[in-house]
Amino acid sequence: MRRGRGWKGGWFKALAALVGLGLAAGCGVGPSDAGEERIVHVLSARHYDGDRKLFDRFTERTGIRVNEVKGTAPELIERLRREEGEWDLLLTVDGSALDLAKQSGVLQPIPEEAASRNVPAPWRDPDGYWVAVAARARVIVYAKDRVDPDELPTYESLTDERWSGRVLVRSSSNAYNLSLLASYIEVRGADAAKRWAQGIADNLARRPQGGDVDQALAVARGEGDVAIMNAYYIGQLAASEDEEEARAAARLGVVFPNQDAEGAHMNISGAGLAASAPNREAALRLLEFMTSEEGQTLLVAESFEFPVNAGAETPALLREWGAFKGQPIDAARWSERQREAERIFAEAGWE
Ligand code: FE2
Repeated sequence: MRRGRGWKGGWFKALAALVGLGLAAGCGVGPSDAGEERIVHVLSARHYDGDRKLFDRFTERTGIRVNEVKGTAPELIERLRREEGEWDLLLTVDGSALDLAKQSGVLQPIPEEAASRNVPAPWRDPDGYWVAVAARARVIVYAKDRVDPDELPTYESLTDERWSGRVLVRSSSNAYNLSLLASYIEVRGADAAKRWAQGIADNLARRPQGGDVDQALAVARGEGDVAIMNAYYIGQLAASEDEEEARAAARLGVVFPNQDAEGAHMNISGAGLAASAPNREAALRLLEFMTSEEGQTLLVAESFEFPVNAGAETPALLREWGAFKGQPIDAARWSERQREAERIFAEAGWE
């Protein structure tokens, strides 16, 4: 496992100090006051089984029930618009999707005191329209029996000829890949982004298909040797009750790339308060619980994402990965770069 500086040792440390201040101010999730709303209606694009446990614990603590309906981000944003006044909270993955929700006018600002209590400023929208509930790194996963991780220090190393026919990654239309390339354009410029996308497209082991988990399983089966994917899926596979999935995870290693440069690409999953939330106070309490030490510990225990509250306990695998350097989140810029990223992917022939 490669270990780098930064995630807890660099800019994240400064964030931890901020979180510490927030926690000192107190976290007010307790029994519900009489007369308060008793339900929160949540639209969620998160697709990780542990979220229900988190909601159930919130209900135990507060008596407030959580009604959760799932869908994709564009579907849920449209639903918020159409069914105004029926939904309280939007949960989604990907910074660009959060920015899209903000720009669509379906959210209202979260009061500063509620948002900042548990979540440091870099994990929140500067205008208060969303708050991250988890962070994720888009990493390089490799077959331990055939690949030396020292050959994979950077995203750029995957464009080397030696990886010809060995790289696996999902379709370019996926939000995780679009934000990865959008941030690449931000950090290194459009020309470098084009070269990189072309280099990956040229080295693919097969046409992009399936989700991130499918890339991991394909590496384990030997259809390719390395994959670009979100790190938490390795944790979810390792914890899977499906033996094939757990066995696959044991064969895979994780590299957090670009540790001597800008760091691994980070993305977020986050929450926004519906513009006309009927249960606004209850929704804010749920948001506060999700981002509390207890809520974050529950959330990452099953999703294997990184907590946004530095006080949360993390699963052993995350501690094993250790500290690493991650890029800052710039959701608004990624959102602006989506079209450009799509165009670059198309030109590169990354389907
Ligand atoms: Fe995911």
